[in-house]
Amino acid sequence: MAAYIPSEFIQDLLNRIDIVEVIDHRVPLKKAGKNFVACCPFHDEKTPSFSVSAQKQMYYCFGCGQGGDAIKFLIEYDGVNFVEAIEDLARQAGVDVPRQQQQAKKAVTQVVEEIDLYQLLTRVAHHFQAQFKQAADARLAIDYLKQRGITGEIAKKYQVGFAPAGWDHLLKAFPGEAMRTALVASGMVIHNEQGRYYDRYRQRIMFPILDRRGRVVGFGGRVINSDDSPKYLNSPETVVFHKNRELYGLYQALQIQRAPDYLLVVEGYMDVIGLAQYGIYQAVAALGTAISQTHIQLLTRHTRKIIFCMDGDNAGQQAAWRALEVALPILTDEVQVQFLFLPQGEDPDSLIRQQGSEKFLTCMEQAQPLTDYLFEQLLQQTDIQQMEGRAYLIGQLSRFVKNMTAHTLKQLIIERLAQLVHLPVARVTTLLEQGASTKGVISSVNKPVIKSLTPMQLAIALLLQNPGLVTYIDLENVTLAGVGGQLLKEMVEFIRQHPNINTQGLLHQWREAPEAAGLVKLAAWELAIPDSGMAAELMAVLSRLSQEYLQQQVNYLLKQGRQTPLTSEQQEELNRLLQQLKAKSP
Ligand code: UTP
Ligand code: MN
Repeated sequence: MAAYIPSEFIQDLLNRIDIVEVIDHRVPLKKAGKNFVACCPFHDEKTPSFSVSAQKQMYYCFGCGQGGDAIKFLIEYDGVNFVEAIEDLARQAGVDVPRQQQQAKKAVTQVVEEIDLYQLLTRVAHHFQAQFKQAADARLAIDYLKQRGITGEIAKKYQVGFAPAGWDHLLKAFPGEAMRTALVASGMVIHNEQGRYYDRYRQRIMFPILDRRGRVVGFGGRVINSDDSPKYLNSPETVVFHKNRELYGLYQALQIQRAPDYLLVVEGYMDVIGLAQYGIYQAVAALGTAISQTHIQLLTRHTRKIIFCMDGDNAGQQAAWRALEVALPILTDEVQVQFLFLPQGEDPDSLIRQQGSEKFLTCMEQAQPLTDYLFEQLLQQTDIQQMEGRAYLIGQLSRFVKNMTAHTLKQLIIERLAQLVHLPVARVTTLLEQGASTKGVISSVNKPVIKSLTPMQLAIALLLQNPGLVTYIDLENVTLAGVGGQLLKEMVEFIRQHPNINTQGLLHQWREAPEAAGLVKLAAWELAIPDSGMAAELMAVLSRLSQEYLQQQVNYLLKQGRQTPLTSEQQEELNRLLQQLKAKSP
C-alpha cells in the first residue's frame, strides 16, 4: 500500500546530512572561499559557476540558475524520484524512513473532520454566485461586470461569483468549528499569528478554478476598486490545489469541445472570460505562475496545437522564451507550438473587445511557429557572418536539441541550422552532439538577472539565509503587503515552528511554490553585509517596508478624501495610520 513520508522527518533528515558531502560524492568539488565550486553538471561550461554552500546547505549555479536542496539535487542529478532521493539520503545518514499509511494522511489533510474540501469549495462557489442577489454591496459587483462587458450567461458558465465586503462573511455563512478548520485548509479563511480567523477574500469578484473533473479546487479574486491591491488574489497551494497542475478555463474549454483543434494559453482570468464572451472558448490561463511542463503535457493530451498568447513587452518575451524551453524537451512531432505576440499594452481581452472575434482569429493565424521563434531569437544574439557567431549558434542549439524527443522536428532544426552555417547535415549533427562551443551557452533572454534587490527581496533574502534572525521580527509591528509580504509572514511562521531549520529546509518547504526559483536566487545572493550587521539590516528594511505601506494607505485615503468627503470610519482609519506613521518615523 502506498505510504507517505512525514515532512517533519524530511526536514530533520535535511538537517542531519551535509549537502557538500552528498554532492562531492557525485561531482568533485573544490574549495573556493566560503563555498565549494565545480563545473555545473546541469549545463556545459568550462569555468565553474556551480557552487555549494556549507553554511546555507544549498547548491546554486550562477550560470544556469539551477539550485536548491539536497533532495532536489539527487532528483535532478541521479534521475531518481522524490522518495528514492529521500531513501538515499536516509541510508547515508543511517536512519530509517518512517512511513505513514496514505489513509492516515487523507484523514488529516484532504478530509478535515469529515468535511470534503472539494465539496466545501463547490458550495463556497455557489454561495459566491448567490451573492449577486444577496449581498448588500452586490450592486458594485454587478456594475463592475457590466462595465467590463461580461454577460450573465458567461458569468454563469464560468461560475463567476462575488465575495462581499467584511471579514467574516464566509465564516458566518459556513458556521461551526469543524467547518472553520476546513475553510482554513481550503485557503478560504486565514488563521493569523494572533489566533484570529478571517476571510481571505473580501469584496472581490471570484473566479472559481475547476480541476479536470469540474471540481472547484481554488479561486482567483479580483478587486473591484482598482486602488486596492493585490489586483488578483489566488488561493494558496492546498491539498486539493496545485498551481502547476491546474489551468484556468481548461475544464470549460473541454466541455464545449472534447478535442479542440487548438488551445490558446493566455495570461489572465479576464482574458479567458473576455474571449469566451466573443465565442472563443479555447483559452486557458496559468494561475499567476509560469507555465510548467505538467501544464504543457496536460494540454498536449487534449489538442495538437498550443498557441501561447503573449504581451509584446519584455516580460512577454521572457515568458515566451521560458515556455519554449519548458516545451521543447517534451514536445512530440504530433503537437505544434506557436507564439502570438500582441501589440504593446494589449491583452487578448482588450484586443478582442476593440477588434471583434474575426480580426482576432485572423491575427491568430499569424502566430509564429516555435522553431521560427527559436531561430529568430538566437540569430538576434549573434552575427553568423562570423565564425564565432556560427559556433555560438551551434552551441546554443545543441542545448535545445540534445533533449528533444520530437525526432522529425529535431531533424528539421538540424537541417535549417546546416543551411545557416553552410555545413553538411552530418557534420552539424556531430557538432551538436559534442555540445560544440560552450562559452556563453545561456542565452540572455532566458535568464533575467536581478541587478539589485528591492527592500522586500532584501528582507526575504536576509531571513532565508539567516533563519535565526526570526527572533528579531515582531510581526505585530510590521505591516507587509503583496505577495512578498505574505511569503515573508509565512516564512516567519514556519521558522517559528521549526527553530532548527536552515536555508536548505526553507527552500525545500517552498520548492513547489510559484516563487521557488526566485527564492533559490535570493538564497544564493551574496549579501555584502557582515554577519554582525544582519539583524540590524533586517529590522531597518522591515521598518522601511512598513512605513512605505502605511504611507501608501494614507495617500490613498487622502486622494479619496479629495474626491468625496471621508466617512467617519475612514477619517478614524486615516488618523490611526498617521499615528502609526509618526511612531515609526526616525
Ligand atoms: P494582469 O495584471 O495582466 O491582469 O494579470 P489582467 O488579466 O489583464 O486583468 P484585468 O484585465 O485588469 O482584470 C494577469 C494575471 O496575472 C495574475 C492573475 O492570474 C492575472 O489574471 N495576477 C495578476 C496575480 O496573480 N496577482 C496580481 O496581483 C496580478
Ligand atoms: Mn486585462
